Amino acid sequence: MEMSLEEFADRFSEIAGQYDDIHDSDEKPIYNACASLVVEHANPGPDDVVLDLGTGTGLIALALAEDAGHVVGRDISDGMIEQARSKDADRGFENVDFGYGEFRDPHYDGEVDIVVSNFALHHLPDEEKHEAIEAIADIGARRFVLGDAMFFGSPDPEEPLFDHGVDGATVGMLVDILTDVGFVVTAVERVHDQVGVLVAERSDEVPAYDPQEDQ
Ligand SMILES: C[S@@+](CC[C@H](N)C(=O)[O-])C[C@H]1O[C@@H](n2cnc3c(N)ncnc32)[C@H](O)[C@@H]1O
Repeated sequence: MEMSLEEFADRFSEIAGQYDDIHDSDEKPIYNACASLVVEHANPGPDDVVLDLGTGTGLIALALAEDAGHVVGRDISDGMIEQARSKDADRGFENVDFGYGEFRDPHYDGEVDIVVSNFALHHLPDEEKHEAIEAIADIGARRFVLGDAMFFGSPDPEEPLFDHGVDGATVGMLVDILTDVGFVVTAVERVHDQVGVLVAERSDEVPAYDPQEDQ
């Protein structure tokens, strides 16, 4: 049964206070490895504006705040946003803004250089993933780094890594959507059979292939 956005938001708000501690022992190292790769590939400079979609309690947004010019974290769950703001206040960053926003309507009108998202897109059914990635392309950022549940092989229904609200897509399907909307996929990181990180750059930002360089 599909959940509405409000139901998702409420579900995350209920667990927001414990969210940073709740990943069980099997999931935690995979989640941490995925988050580290998202941060590494985002690689913002001091003038870059980063938009973190499905920011949750701000793990990725706050990790990027030291290097980026400005970081905008957006989420549908008030409880998660509250946790993110409280962590931000503890760390004293002045360049981070957390607030309500949805994949297809991030509630942010400024220029964005890099979009990131970690473990959030899988909550959308496949056709909505397509709409979400289209909306991300329309933002006009030069890079989109997506860390998420994604299937590198055929998913084994007997051994799901995650059993809670995960609607994972295949890597092939995500790469096709990213390419369709005008990105070039420049890196694919496999963290686990069911988890990976895709780096997508605007095609006009990627140098054309020069066969001479291979010689
Ligand atoms: C599993 S948490 C991941 C949070 C964070 N990115 C991290 O890596 O810890 C997923 C987050 O996505 C948010 N979310 C789910 N659907 C969303 C949507 N359509 N738009 C924006 N955020 C969404 C949830 O509220 C939740 O905070």
